[in-house]
Amino acid sequence: MRALTWQGKHDVRVETVPDPGIVNPRDAIVRVTSTAICGSDLHLYDHYIPGMKAGDILGHEFMGEVVEVGPGNSALSVGQRVVVPFVIACGGCFFCQKQQYAACDNSNPAEKADVSEVAYGYPMTGAFGYSHLTGGYAGGQAEYVRVPYADVGPVVIPDGIEDDRVLFLSDILPTGWMAAENCAIESGDTVAVWGCGPVGLFAIQSAFLQGAERVIAIDHHPHRLELAKVLGAEVIDYEEVKVREALVEMTGGIGPDACIDAVGMESHGMSIDNVVDQVKASVGLGTDRPHVLRQVIMACRKGGRVSIPGVYGGFADKFPVGALMEKGLTIKTGQTHVQRYKDKLLQMILEGAIDTTFLISHRLPLEDAAKGYRMFKEQQNEVTKVVLKPDGWRH
Ligand SMILES: NC(=O)c1ccc[n+]([C@@H]2O[C@H](COP(=O)([O-])OP(=O)(O)OC[C@H]3O[C@@H](n4cnc5c(N)ncnc54)[C@H](O)[C@@H]3O)[C@@H](O)[C@H]2O)c1
Ligand SMILES: [Zn+2]
Ligand SMILES: [Zn+2]
Repeated sequence: MRALTWQGKHDVRVETVPDPGIVNPRDAIVRVTSTAICGSDLHLYDHYIPGMKAGDILGHEFMGEVVEVGPGNSALSVGQRVVVPFVIACGGCFFCQKQQYAACDNSNPAEKADVSEVAYGYPMTGAFGYSHLTGGYAGGQAEYVRVPYADVGPVVIPDGIEDDRVLFLSDILPTGWMAAENCAIESGDTVAVWGCGPVGLFAIQSAFLQGAERVIAIDHHPHRLELAKVLGAEVIDYEEVKVREALVEMTGGIGPDACIDAVGMESHGMSIDNVVDQVKASVGLGTDRPHVLRQVIMACRKGGRVSIPGVYGGFADKFPVGALMEKGLTIKTGQTHVQRYKDKLLQMILEGAIDTTFLISHRLPLEDAAKGYRMFKEQQNEVTKVVLKPDGWRH
Protein backbone atom coordinates (compact mmCIF):
# COMPACT_ATOMS: atom_id res chain seq x y z
CA MET A 1 0.00 0.00 0.00
CA ARG A 2 0.97 3.68 -0.18
CA ALA A 3 1.67 5.54 3.08
CA LEU A 4 3.27 8.76 4.28
CA THR A 5 6.54 7.99 6.06
CA TRP A 6 8.70 10.17 8.31
CA GLN A 7 12.33 10.18 7.17
CA GLY A 8 13.84 12.97 9.26
CA LYS A 9 13.32 16.63 10.15
CA HIS A 10 11.20 18.28 7.41
CA ASP A 11 11.46 15.13 5.29
CA VAL A 12 8.28 13.09 4.81
CA ARG A 13 7.62 10.90 1.76
CA VAL A 14 4.80 8.76 0.36
CA GLU A 15 6.23 5.30 -0.17
CA THR A 16 5.08 1.77 -0.91
CA VAL A 17 5.09 -0.26 2.32
CA PRO A 18 3.69 -3.68 3.36
CA ASP A 19 -0.09 -3.87 3.95
CA PRO A 20 -1.10 -4.17 7.61
CA GLY A 21 -2.73 -7.35 8.89
CA ILE A 22 -4.68 -8.49 11.95
CA VAL A 23 -2.26 -9.11 14.85
CA ASN A 24 -4.55 -9.44 17.89
CA PRO A 25 -8.12 -10.81 18.05
CA ARG A 26 -9.70 -7.42 18.85
CA ASP A 27 -7.99 -5.65 15.87
CA ALA A 28 -9.65 -4.35 12.74
CA ILE A 29 -8.18 -3.20 9.43
CA VAL A 30 -9.58 0.07 8.09
CA ARG A 31 -9.32 1.31 4.50
CA VAL A 32 -8.72 5.01 4.99
CA THR A 33 -10.98 7.39 3.08
CA SER A 34 -10.00 10.69 4.77
CA THR A 35 -7.09 11.64 7.01
CA ALA A 36 -5.97 15.04 8.26
CA ILE A 37 -2.69 16.72 9.16
CA CYS A 38 -2.62 18.01 12.74
CA GLY A 39 -0.61 20.69 14.56
CA SER A 40 0.73 17.75 16.60
CA ASP A 41 2.15 16.28 13.36
CA LEU A 42 4.15 19.47 12.93
CA HIS A 43 5.94 18.74 16.24
CA LEU A 44 7.13 15.48 14.60
CA TYR A 45 7.87 17.19 11.27
CA ASP A 46 9.99 19.78 13.10
CA HIS A 47 11.47 16.94 15.18
CA TYR A 48 10.54 18.46 18.53
CA ILE A 49 9.13 15.12 19.76
CA PRO A 50 11.81 12.41 20.11
CA GLY A 51 11.40 8.70 19.44
CA MET A 52 10.85 8.81 15.66
CA LYS A 53 12.53 6.32 13.32
CA ALA A 54 13.01 6.68 9.56
CA GLY A 55 10.16 4.90 7.81
CA ASP A 56 7.54 5.40 10.55
CA ILE A 57 4.05 5.93 9.10
CA LEU A 58 2.48 9.19 10.30
CA GLY A 59 -1.12 10.19 10.90
CA HIS A 60 -3.52 10.01 13.85
CA GLU A 61 -6.65 11.72 12.47
CA PHE A 62 -8.38 9.31 10.11
CA MET A 63 -11.56 7.49 9.17
CA GLY A 64 -12.58 4.89 6.65
CA GLU A 65 -14.26 1.60 5.95
CA VAL A 66 -13.75 -1.57 7.98
CA VAL A 67 -12.34 -4.24 5.63
CA GLU A 68 -11.27 -6.93 8.10
CA VAL A 69 -12.20 -7.75 11.70
CA GLY A 70 -10.29 -9.94 14.16
CA PRO A 71 -11.97 -13.07 15.61
CA GLY A 72 -12.33 -11.47 19.06
CA ASN A 73 -14.13 -8.34 17.90
CA SER A 74 -17.91 -8.61 17.85
CA ALA A 75 -18.52 -4.85 17.93
CA LEU A 76 -17.57 -4.09 14.31
CA SER A 77 -18.40 -5.63 10.97
CA VAL A 78 -16.91 -5.40 7.51
CA GLY A 79 -18.34 -2.53 5.47
CA GLN A 80 -19.05 -0.16 8.38
CA ARG A 81 -17.72 3.38 8.17
CA VAL A 82 -15.80 4.43 11.27
CA VAL A 83 -13.89 7.38 12.71
CA VAL A 84 -10.95 6.21 14.82
CA PRO A 85 -9.81 8.08 17.99
CA PHE A 86 -6.09 8.95 17.95
CA VAL A 87 -5.69 7.52 21.46
CA ILE A 88 -5.42 3.72 21.57
CA ALA A 89 -7.21 2.47 24.69
CA CYS A 90 -8.11 -1.01 25.92
CA GLY A 91 -11.39 -0.04 27.59
CA GLY A 92 -10.86 -2.31 30.61
CA CYS A 93 -7.88 -1.13 32.66
CA PHE A 94 -7.96 1.01 35.82
CA PHE A 95 -7.67 4.22 33.76
CA CYS A 96 -10.12 3.30 31.00
CA GLN A 97 -12.68 2.38 33.67
CA LYS A 98 -12.33 5.97 34.93
CA GLN A 99 -12.77 7.20 31.33
CA GLN A 100 -9.18 8.47 31.39
CA TYR A 101 -8.55 6.78 28.06
CA ALA A 102 -5.45 8.84 27.25
CA ALA A 103 -3.89 7.24 30.32
CA CYS A 104 -4.67 3.62 29.29
CA ASP A 105 -2.08 1.29 30.79
CA ASN A 106 -2.34 -1.49 28.22
CA SER A 107 -1.89 0.07 24.78
CA ASN A 108 1.81 0.92 24.88
CA PRO A 109 3.90 -2.26 24.60
CA ALA A 110 6.25 -2.77 27.55
CA GLU A 111 9.59 -2.28 25.82
CA LYS A 112 8.40 0.99 24.24
CA ALA A 113 6.68 2.19 27.40
CA ASP A 114 9.98 1.95 29.29
CA VAL A 115 11.30 4.97 27.39
CA SER A 116 8.38 7.22 28.31
CA GLU A 117 8.44 5.91 31.88
CA VAL A 118 11.94 7.33 32.26
CA ALA A 119 10.82 10.69 30.81
CA TYR A 120 7.50 11.05 32.68
CA GLY A 121 7.60 8.76 35.69
CA TYR A 122 4.91 6.46 34.26
CA PRO A 123 4.53 5.05 30.74
CA MET A 124 2.55 6.94 28.11
CA THR A 125 -0.51 5.54 26.39
CA GLY A 126 -0.44 4.25 22.81
CA ALA A 127 -1.37 6.53 19.92
CA PHE A 128 -1.37 6.20 16.14
CA GLY A 129 1.60 7.51 14.17
CA TYR A 130 3.12 9.39 17.06
CA SER A 131 6.66 8.13 17.71
CA HIS A 132 7.98 5.11 19.58
CA LEU A 133 7.25 6.88 22.87
CA THR A 134 3.57 6.11 22.28
CA GLY A 135 4.08 2.57 21.03
CA GLY A 136 5.46 3.08 17.53
CA TYR A 137 2.07 2.26 15.94
CA ALA A 138 1.72 2.84 12.20
CA GLY A 139 -0.49 5.87 11.53
CA GLY A 140 -3.45 6.52 9.29
CA GLN A 141 -1.97 8.78 6.58
CA ALA A 142 -2.01 5.63 4.50
CA GLU A 143 -4.32 3.51 2.39
CA TYR A 144 -4.87 0.99 5.22
CA VAL A 145 -4.27 0.95 8.95
CA ARG A 146 -4.43 -1.64 11.71
CA VAL A 147 -6.64 -0.49 14.59
CA PRO A 148 -5.92 -2.24 17.92
CA TYR A 149 -8.76 -2.54 20.50
CA ALA A 150 -11.11 -1.79 17.62
CA ASP A 151 -14.09 -2.90 19.71
CA VAL A 152 -13.55 0.14 21.99
CA GLY A 153 -12.27 3.09 19.93
CA PRO A 154 -13.95 3.44 16.53
CA VAL A 155 -17.23 5.32 16.30
CA VAL A 156 -19.61 4.01 13.64
CA ILE A 157 -20.92 6.70 11.28
CA PRO A 158 -24.46 6.50 9.91
CA ASP A 159 -24.84 6.26 6.12
CA GLY A 160 -25.17 9.47 4.16
CA ILE A 161 -22.94 11.63 6.37
CA GLU A 162 -19.95 12.82 4.36
CA ASP A 163 -16.43 12.31 5.79
CA ASP A 164 -15.62 16.00 6.25
CA ARG A 165 -18.47 16.45 8.75
CA VAL A 166 -17.22 13.75 11.13
CA LEU A 167 -13.47 13.24 10.48
CA PHE A 168 -12.45 15.60 13.28
CA LEU A 169 -14.12 13.42 15.91
CA SER A 170 -10.78 11.55 15.73
CA ASP A 171 -8.94 14.30 17.60
CA ILE A 172 -9.30 18.07 17.25
CA LEU A 173 -13.05 18.39 17.91
CA PRO A 174 -12.96 16.45 21.21
CA THR A 175 -9.67 18.23 21.98
CA GLY A 176 -11.32 21.64 21.63
CA TRP A 177 -14.30 20.39 23.65
CA MET A 178 -12.16 18.98 26.47
CA ALA A 179 -10.06 22.17 26.47
CA ALA A 180 -13.23 24.16 27.18
CA GLU A 181 -14.56 21.58 29.67
CA ASN A 182 -11.26 21.85 31.57
CA CYS A 183 -12.09 25.56 32.07
CA ALA A 184 -15.17 24.65 34.17
CA ILE A 185 -17.00 27.55 32.51
CA GLU A 186 -19.53 29.46 34.64
CA SER A 187 -22.20 31.75 33.23
CA GLY A 188 -20.84 35.22 32.57
CA ASP A 189 -17.30 33.94 32.08
CA THR A 190 -14.75 35.43 29.72
CA VAL A 191 -12.47 32.79 28.21
CA ALA A 192 -9.21 33.72 26.45
CA VAL A 193 -7.85 31.31 23.83
CA TRP A 194 -4.24 31.50 22.61
CA GLY A 195 -3.84 30.07 19.09
CA CYS A 196 -6.48 30.09 16.33
CA GLY A 197 -5.37 26.86 14.70
CA PRO A 198 -7.88 24.01 14.45
CA VAL A 199 -7.66 23.22 18.18
CA GLY A 200 -8.07 26.87 19.20
CA LEU A 201 -11.01 27.36 16.83
CA PHE A 202 -12.82 24.29 18.15
CA ALA A 203 -12.05 25.44 21.71
CA ILE A 204 -13.70 28.79 20.93
CA GLN A 205 -16.78 27.07 19.47
CA SER A 206 -16.94 24.71 22.47
CA ALA A 207 -16.48 27.50 25.04
CA PHE A 208 -19.57 29.28 23.67
CA LEU A 209 -21.54 26.02 23.59
CA GLN A 210 -20.56 25.43 27.22
CA GLY A 211 -21.86 28.83 28.29
CA ALA A 212 -19.05 31.37 28.00
CA GLU A 213 -20.34 34.91 27.65
CA ARG A 214 -17.24 36.23 25.90
CA VAL A 215 -14.31 34.55 24.17
CA ILE A 216 -11.15 36.50 23.32
CA ALA A 217 -8.90 34.84 20.74
CA ILE A 218 -5.19 35.56 20.29
CA ASP A 219 -3.05 34.86 17.20
CA HIS A 220 -1.25 36.84 14.50
CA HIS A 221 -2.58 35.32 11.27
CA PRO A 222 -5.35 37.62 9.94
CA HIS A 223 -7.33 34.83 8.28
CA ARG A 224 -7.26 32.60 11.35
CA LEU A 225 -8.33 35.58 13.50
CA GLU A 226 -11.13 36.21 11.02
CA LEU A 227 -12.39 32.62 11.48
CA ALA A 228 -12.36 33.21 15.24
CA LYS A 229 -14.45 36.35 14.75
CA VAL A 230 -16.98 34.45 12.64
CA LEU A 231 -17.39 32.08 15.61
CA GLY A 232 -18.21 35.11 17.79
CA ALA A 233 -14.84 35.78 19.44
CA GLU A 234 -13.24 39.17 20.00
CA VAL A 235 -9.66 39.05 18.76
CA ILE A 236 -6.17 40.24 19.69
CA ASP A 237 -3.24 40.27 17.25
CA TYR A 238 -0.25 39.62 19.49
CA GLU A 239 2.06 41.42 17.04
CA GLU A 240 0.10 44.64 17.45
CA VAL A 241 -0.55 44.92 21.18
CA LYS A 242 0.80 43.60 24.46
CA VAL A 243 -1.44 40.62 25.16
CA ARG A 244 -1.70 40.72 28.97
CA GLU A 245 -2.28 44.47 29.00
CA ALA A 246 -4.95 44.18 26.28
CA LEU A 247 -6.73 41.41 28.19
CA VAL A 248 -6.66 43.42 31.41
CA GLU A 249 -8.19 46.38 29.61
CA MET A 250 -10.88 44.27 27.93
CA THR A 251 -11.94 42.69 31.24
CA GLY A 252 -12.28 45.77 33.42
CA GLY A 253 -8.92 45.23 35.12
CA ILE A 254 -9.75 41.73 36.32
CA GLY A 255 -8.33 39.41 33.63
CA PRO A 256 -9.99 36.46 31.89
CA ASP A 257 -11.76 33.90 34.11
CA ALA A 258 -10.23 31.05 32.14
CA CYS A 259 -7.34 30.79 29.69
CA ILE A 260 -6.65 28.11 27.09
CA ASP A 261 -3.17 27.45 25.66
CA ALA A 262 -3.96 26.00 22.23
CA VAL A 263 -0.45 26.72 20.95
CA GLY A 264 1.88 24.33 22.77
CA MET A 265 5.61 23.82 22.55
CA GLU A 266 6.36 25.73 19.32
CA SER A 267 5.17 29.20 20.19
CA HIS A 268 5.96 31.96 17.65
CA GLY A 269 6.90 35.58 18.30
CA MET A 270 9.94 37.77 18.83
CA SER A 271 9.60 38.36 22.58
CA ILE A 272 12.90 38.00 24.47
CA ASP A 273 11.89 34.85 26.35
CA ASN A 274 10.76 33.14 23.15
CA VAL A 275 13.92 34.02 21.23
CA VAL A 276 16.04 32.63 24.10
CA ASP A 277 13.91 29.44 24.07
CA GLN A 278 14.42 29.06 20.31
CA VAL A 279 18.18 29.44 20.55
CA LYS A 280 18.35 26.95 23.42
CA ALA A 281 16.18 24.43 21.58
CA SER A 282 18.25 24.78 18.40
CA VAL A 283 21.45 23.77 20.19
CA GLY A 284 19.84 21.03 22.25
CA LEU A 285 19.89 22.91 25.57
CA GLY A 286 16.11 23.11 25.82
CA THR A 287 13.09 21.07 24.79
CA ASP A 288 9.93 23.19 24.76
CA ARG A 289 9.24 26.88 23.99
CA PRO A 290 6.66 27.70 26.69
CA HIS A 291 6.22 31.43 25.93
CA VAL A 292 2.43 31.12 25.63
CA LEU A 293 2.15 29.10 28.82
CA ARG A 294 4.03 31.82 30.72
CA GLN A 295 1.75 34.46 29.23
CA VAL A 296 -1.39 32.45 30.04
CA ILE A 297 -0.42 32.11 33.70
CA MET A 298 0.47 35.78 33.99
CA ALA A 299 -2.72 36.99 32.26
CA CYS A 300 -5.30 34.74 33.95
CA ARG A 301 -7.33 36.40 36.71
CA LYS A 302 -6.72 35.52 40.35
CA GLY A 303 -8.53 32.29 41.19
CA GLY A 304 -8.95 31.54 37.49
CA ARG A 305 -8.61 28.35 35.48
CA VAL A 306 -5.93 27.39 32.99
CA SER A 307 -6.47 24.69 30.36
CA ILE A 308 -3.57 23.37 28.28
CA PRO A 309 -4.51 21.29 25.23
CA GLY A 310 -1.31 22.48 23.48
CA VAL A 311 1.31 19.73 23.53
CA TYR A 312 4.46 19.99 25.65
CA GLY A 313 7.09 17.27 25.69
CA GLY A 314 9.94 18.05 28.02
CA PHE A 315 10.85 20.79 30.47
CA ALA A 316 9.71 24.38 30.85
CA ASP A 317 12.29 27.03 31.65
CA LYS A 318 11.33 30.20 33.56
CA PHE A 319 7.93 28.75 34.42
CA PRO A 320 6.08 31.35 36.60
CA VAL A 321 5.33 29.00 39.45
CA GLY A 322 5.01 31.95 41.88
CA ALA A 323 2.18 33.51 39.86
CA LEU A 324 0.50 30.12 39.56
CA MET A 325 0.53 29.55 43.29
CA GLU A 326 0.00 33.06 44.62
CA LYS A 327 -3.00 33.69 42.32
CA GLY A 328 -4.55 30.33 43.21
CA LEU A 329 -4.93 29.11 39.65
CA THR A 330 -6.27 25.70 38.67
CA ILE A 331 -4.53 23.92 35.79
CA LYS A 332 -5.96 21.08 33.73
CA THR A 333 -4.28 19.50 30.73
CA GLY A 334 -3.65 16.24 28.90
CA GLN A 335 -3.95 14.31 25.69
CA THR A 336 -7.65 14.11 24.93
CA HIS A 337 -9.80 11.26 26.26
CA VAL A 338 -11.40 11.03 22.81
CA GLN A 339 -13.43 7.90 23.57
CA ARG A 340 -15.20 9.79 26.41
CA TYR A 341 -16.60 12.46 24.07
CA LYS A 342 -17.02 10.77 20.67
CA ASP A 343 -20.70 9.72 20.92
CA LYS A 344 -21.93 12.98 22.42
CA LEU A 345 -20.09 15.06 19.82
CA LEU A 346 -21.26 12.86 16.93
CA GLN A 347 -24.81 13.47 18.13
CA MET A 348 -24.21 17.23 18.24
CA ILE A 349 -22.87 17.14 14.65
CA LEU A 350 -25.88 15.15 13.46
CA GLU A 351 -28.26 17.60 15.18
CA GLY A 352 -26.51 20.55 13.53
CA ALA A 353 -25.25 22.06 16.81
CA ILE A 354 -21.63 21.75 15.65
CA ASP A 355 -20.16 22.36 12.21
CA THR A 356 -16.63 21.13 11.63
CA THR A 357 -16.22 21.76 7.92
CA PHE A 358 -15.54 25.51 8.11
CA LEU A 359 -11.87 25.09 8.86
CA ILE A 360 -10.94 22.74 6.00
CA SER A 361 -8.95 24.87 3.54
CA HIS A 362 -7.32 22.16 1.42
CA ARG A 363 -8.17 18.67 0.23
CA LEU A 364 -5.30 16.78 -1.43
CA PRO A 365 -4.65 13.24 -2.65
CA LEU A 366 -2.44 11.19 -0.29
CA GLU A 367 0.31 11.30 -2.92
CA ASP A 368 0.61 15.07 -2.24
CA ALA A 369 0.96 14.62 1.53
CA ALA A 370 4.51 16.03 1.67
CA LYS A 371 3.27 19.18 -0.04
CA GLY A 372 0.40 19.29 2.47
CA TYR A 373 2.83 19.24 5.41
CA ARG A 374 4.93 22.01 3.86
CA MET A 375 1.87 24.18 3.23
CA PHE A 376 0.40 23.61 6.72
CA LYS A 377 3.70 24.64 8.27
CA GLU A 378 4.76 27.50 6.00
CA GLN A 379 1.45 29.11 4.97
CA GLN A 380 -0.40 28.94 8.28
CA ASN A 381 -2.52 32.01 7.60
CA GLU A 382 -4.49 30.55 4.72
CA VAL A 383 -3.83 26.81 5.20
CA THR A 384 -6.05 26.14 8.21
CA LYS A 385 -6.57 22.38 7.81
CA VAL A 386 -5.42 19.88 5.21
CA VAL A 387 -7.44 16.72 4.56
CA LEU A 388 -5.79 13.94 2.56
CA LYS A 389 -7.87 11.56 0.45
CA PRO A 390 -6.09 8.22 -0.07
CA ASP A 391 -8.81 6.86 -2.35
CA GLY A 392 -9.19 9.88 -4.60
CA TRP A 393 -12.34 11.94 -4.25
CA ARG A 394 -15.07 9.42 -3.60
CA HIS A 395 -15.70 10.56 0.00
N1 LIG B 1 -4.14 17.60 23.86
C1 LIG B 1 -4.37 16.93 22.75
O1 LIG B 1 -4.84 15.79 22.79
C2 LIG B 1 -4.07 17.58 21.45
C3 LIG B 1 -4.71 17.16 20.28
C4 LIG B 1 -4.47 17.83 19.08
C5 LIG B 1 -3.57 18.87 19.06
N2 LIG B 1 -2.93 19.25 20.21
C6 LIG B 1 -1.98 20.37 20.23
O2 LIG B 1 -2.69 21.60 20.16
C7 LIG B 1 -1.81 22.60 19.62
C8 LIG B 1 -2.51 23.33 18.49
O3 LIG B 1 -2.80 22.44 17.43
P1 LIG B 1 -3.32 23.03 16.03
O4 LIG B 1 -3.60 21.86 15.15
O5 LIG B 1 -4.38 24.02 16.25
O6 LIG B 1 -1.94 23.72 15.54
P2 LIG B 1 -1.55 24.90 14.56
O7 LIG B 1 -0.06 24.85 14.49
O8 LIG B 1 -2.33 24.85 13.29
O9 LIG B 1 -2.02 26.23 15.32
C9 LIG B 1 -1.26 26.88 16.28
C10 LIG B 1 -1.64 28.36 16.24
O10 LIG B 1 -0.98 29.01 17.34
C11 LIG B 1 -0.62 30.31 16.91
N3 LIG B 1 0.42 30.87 17.74
C12 LIG B 1 1.76 30.63 17.71
N4 LIG B 1 2.41 31.36 18.62
C13 LIG B 1 1.47 32.11 19.25
C14 LIG B 1 1.55 33.06 20.29
N5 LIG B 1 2.72 33.44 20.81
N6 LIG B 1 0.36 33.63 20.72
C15 LIG B 1 -0.82 33.27 20.15
N7 LIG B 1 -0.93 32.36 19.15
C16 LIG B 1 0.21 31.79 18.70
C17 LIG B 1 -0.16 30.08 15.47
O11 LIG B 1 -0.12 31.29 14.72
C18 LIG B 1 -1.20 29.07 14.97
O12 LIG B 1 -2.31 29.70 14.35
C19 LIG B 1 -0.54 21.85 19.19
O13 LIG B 1 0.43 21.93 20.22
C20 LIG B 1 -1.01 20.43 19.08
O14 LIG B 1 0.05 19.51 19.26
C21 LIG B 1 -3.18 18.64 21.38
ZN1 LIG C 1 -4.14 15.60 16.01
ZN1 LIG D 1 -7.00 0.82 29.22
